[in-house]
Amino acid sequence: MHLETKEHWNHAYSKSDTTKLGWYEAIPQASLELIARCQISQTESILDVGSGTTNLISELIALGYTNLFALDISPLALMKAKSLLHKDQAGMVKWIEADVTQTAEMDMLPEVSIWHDRALFHFLTTDDQRNAYHILMQKKVKREGHVILATFAPDGASKCSGLDVRRYSSEQQKKFMGHEFELVETSNITSHTPSGALRPYVYSHFIKM
Ligand SMILES: C[S@@+](CC[C@H](N)C(=O)[O-])C[C@H]1O[C@@H](n2cnc3c(N)ncnc32)[C@H](O)[C@@H]1O
Repeated sequence: MHLETKEHWNHAYSKSDTTKLGWYEAIPQASLELIARCQISQTESILDVGSGTTNLISELIALGYTNLFALDISPLALMKAKSLLHKDQAGMVKWIEADVTQTAEMDMLPEVSIWHDRALFHFLTTDDQRNAYHILMQKKVKREGHVILATFAPDGASKCSGLDVRRYSSEQQKKFMGHEFELVETSNITSHTPSGALRPYVYSHFIKM
């Protein structure tokens, strides 16, 4: 695990209420709509990489999904995320503290039907990190499984949480995903931060060939 990255994110989650974080969404509507369109059964697995303290997990539990994995490099984020749920709901989720660019840390993960990433991937700015992410995604997504990728758009912010990000158009996301993944749909969606700033994202849905 990259200790500097872990410390950075632990610090980010220690200094603010989760609802004040720049990436906070009361209802992660775009993600929920794309997940619904994947048409998986409620017992199939969904992995949220870089899940932080997202409300996506509680929304998916409310919709009846029972096979959920929440992965993050920050143990503090995972602890806070658990505390947002009822105890029995938190017990239904597999919580994984891991760095998504470290293969060994991801070994225990089974193959999943949906790999969901909102606002983690764009922090991977080096080719080594991007390659490691691609290898893991390729290994951990089932054949005909789904990838939902949401990154800052080319006209989006160039930094988040004080870190540089790499922004993507839908074409650039498609190029990164490569021929192993087919693009199903893509859209430009603008989120608002809790302080009212606009955050243009590109959300894309891919299927593993
Ligand atoms: C901007 S937040 C987005 C959180 C959540 N997906 C959301 O939309 O609310 C990025 C998250 O990615 C996590 N993260 C950053 N780098 C990571 C890495 N290499 N491996 C796993 N998680 C990472 C951070 O701890 C943080 O929770």
